[in-house]
Amino acid sequence: MEASSTLDLTGAEFPRSSGYDAAWMLDNQMGPNALWLAEWLTESMKLEPGMRVLDLGCGKAMTSIFLAREFGVRVWAVDLWMSPDNNWRRVQEAGLEGPICPVLAEAHALPFAQGFFDAVVSVDAYHYFGTDELYLHYLSRLVRPGGQIGVVVPGLAQPIDAGVPAHLLQPQSNGKVFWEDECHSFKTADWWRALWNRCSKVEGVSADLQPDGWRHWRDFERALEAAGKATFPSDAEALEKDAGRTLGFVRVVARRTEAEAVNLYDSGIGKAVGIDR
Ligand SMILES: C[S@@+](CC[C@H](N)C(=O)[O-])C[C@H]1O[C@@H](n2cnc3c(N)ncnc32)[C@H](O)[C@@H]1O
Repeated sequence: MEASSTLDLTGAEFPRSSGYDAAWMLDNQMGPNALWLAEWLTESMKLEPGMRVLDLGCGKAMTSIFLAREFGVRVWAVDLWMSPDNNWRRVQEAGLEGPICPVLAEAHALPFAQGFFDAVVSVDAYHYFGTDELYLHYLSRLVRPGGQIGVVVPGLAQPIDAGVPAHLLQPQSNGKVFWEDECHSFKTADWWRALWNRCSKVEGVSADLQPDGWRHWRDFERALEAAGKATFPSDAEALEKDAGRTLGFVRVVARRTEAEAVNLYDSGIGKAVGIDR
């Protein structure tokens, strides 16, 4: 994976990601540059060789490849929409069959033992399943005490209590409207911090907004457009107009405590507690 000279996605801000081929990043993208986001997220985590890491909502497993290569960790690359066959091919091409295992699973039915992971990493996926009060209690079961959970999601720079800003509801010149109902899962760093702080299974919660995240998002959209590799019409214009007033990326990181966590999504729980008899 040598850096490509035709598409410049390199930059001093993301030195690790700069070592990866730009065409590979664009071909396998499922959203704003996953490697940039993974690099920013892992700056606030401590990953060591041999650790067991869950890459939750890994998409096309680019972040799993990044984690295994950059930190020497073992990765369980879990996704719902992408088949493990597809991801295994990419893992093989990267020569990382040893440390990476692609798995098809839904985020509420993860087939792993309690306390199995040293860390969970999730890039641009957690907002699809993790915004309720219960999910972190469930996920944290899979992490050993002292282990880490880190997510980065598209989010809000400030609350939008007064409503979605008009410039995100107007069609861009390509006809695409940025804001869809699903965007209501975008939350501020304060919102995420408060949610995670209500969960006794984690401690040391930190949440922050990526400086200039909107610019990275726009730049990646522009690179996709320029390369003719966009899956959906570009959002660059809306991001440019917004200029970080509303949109960006939020990172949330915490450490697992020793507190017991129950799996409320286990269909056997009714029998286990004696109410299903
Ligand atoms: C926007 S894509 C990002 C993929 C990848 N992390 C990346 O950045 O390239 C969101 C991913 O979340 C995954 N996802 C969404 N809901 C999920 C769920 N309930 N369980 C597991 N994965 C889920 C999808 O399969 C999809 O690959």
